[in-house]
Amino acid sequence: MSLEKDIDTAAEIISRAKRLVAFTGSGVSAESGIATFRDPGGLWDRFNPDEVGTGGGLLSFVMQKPSVAREFLLEVADSFDKAAPNPGHLALADLEKMGILHTVITQNVDDLHWQAGNTRVIEVHGNLMRFRCLACYSKKKFKKEEVVSLGRNIAASLGKGELQGLLPILPKCTCGSPMRPDVVMFGEAVQDLHLAMDEASKCDVLLILGTSGVVYPAATVPLVARRANARVIDINPGESAFSSIIDVQIRGNSGKSLPRVLESIKSKLS
Ligand code: OAD
Ligand code: ZN
Repeated sequence: MSLEKDIDTAAEIISRAKRLVAFTGSGVSAESGIATFRDPGGLWDRFNPDEVGTGGGLLSFVMQKPSVAREFLLEVADSFDKAAPNPGHLALADLEKMGILHTVITQNVDDLHWQAGNTRVIEVHGNLMRFRCLACYSKKKFKKEEVVSLGRNIAASLGKGELQGLLPILPKCTCGSPMRPDVVMFGEAVQDLHLAMDEASKCDVLLILGTSGVVYPAATVPLVARRANARVIDINPGESAFSSIIDVQIRGNSGKSLPRVLESIKSKLS
C-alpha cells in the first residue's frame, strides 16, 4: 500500500475509535533531538547498557570510567536542554483535546508528552524530571533547567575526578536523605504497569509510535491490546517487533506522518 493510502486508512480507523490509546517509544522524540537507543548511532550503540543502563552498573561505571560517564551525562543533559515537543507530540495533544485520544502510555522519560499538553500520560519507565528519595521514596518533580544543571554539575565533578563530591550535589528530600532520578533502569520494576495494562485491555484502537518493541514488560502493551481485539496502527520508519499484529503500518517519522493522519481525521469529521 502507498503511504497516502496507509495514512487514510489509519485516519479512518482512528476517526471511528471509541477509545484510542497511544503507546510511544524514543522514536517519537527523535525529531526533538533526543537520540533513540537502538538505531545506528543511538545511545546503546555508543554506550554499553549493562554499564549505564543498570543502577549498580552505573555506580561502578562512574567509579571505573568517569570520563565516559561524564560524556554520557553531558549528552543527555544537552539534548534534554534543547528538546521541545515536536509536531508528533503536538498531534497527540490535539487528539486528546478533540476527545479522541484517551491515554498515552510511554516508555520515554523526557516529559515531552506532558509539555505538549497531554494530561493522561502513563510513564512506565519513569520521568527524568522527577526524583525520588532513597530513604522514604517521596517524589518531587523539578524544572527542566534544574535537572539539566544538576546533570552538568555532576559531569563537571566527574571531570575533576571528585567522586566523593557527588553525593552532596544530589537533591535532598525533606527528610534529609539524597534523591535519585525516578527513572527505571534495567533490572528495576517498571512503574504503573497495572494502569498501562488496564488501558491496553480497554482500548479499541492502539496507535504505536517510535518503538522497537523489544523491552519487556512494556512491550506487552500492544499484545494485550491485540488480544482484546483492538485495531493496531504502527508509525515507524523501520521495522518493529509488532509486525505480526499490526493492521496498518505507516512507514514514516512520527513528526511528519502523525500530523498528516490528524489532518485526514479532521477532514473526515468535518
Ligand atoms: P529503540 O531505540 O529500541 O527504538 C526506537 C524506534 O524508533 C525504532 O524502531 C526506530 O525505527 C524508531 N524511530 C526512529 N526515528 C523515528 C521517528 N522519527 N519517528 C518514529 N519512529 C522512529 O527505543 P525504544 O523502543 O523506546 O528503557 O526502547 C525501549 C526502551 O529501551 C527504552 O524505554 C529504554 C531502552 O533501554 C529503559 O531504559 C528501561
Ligand atoms: Zn525522604
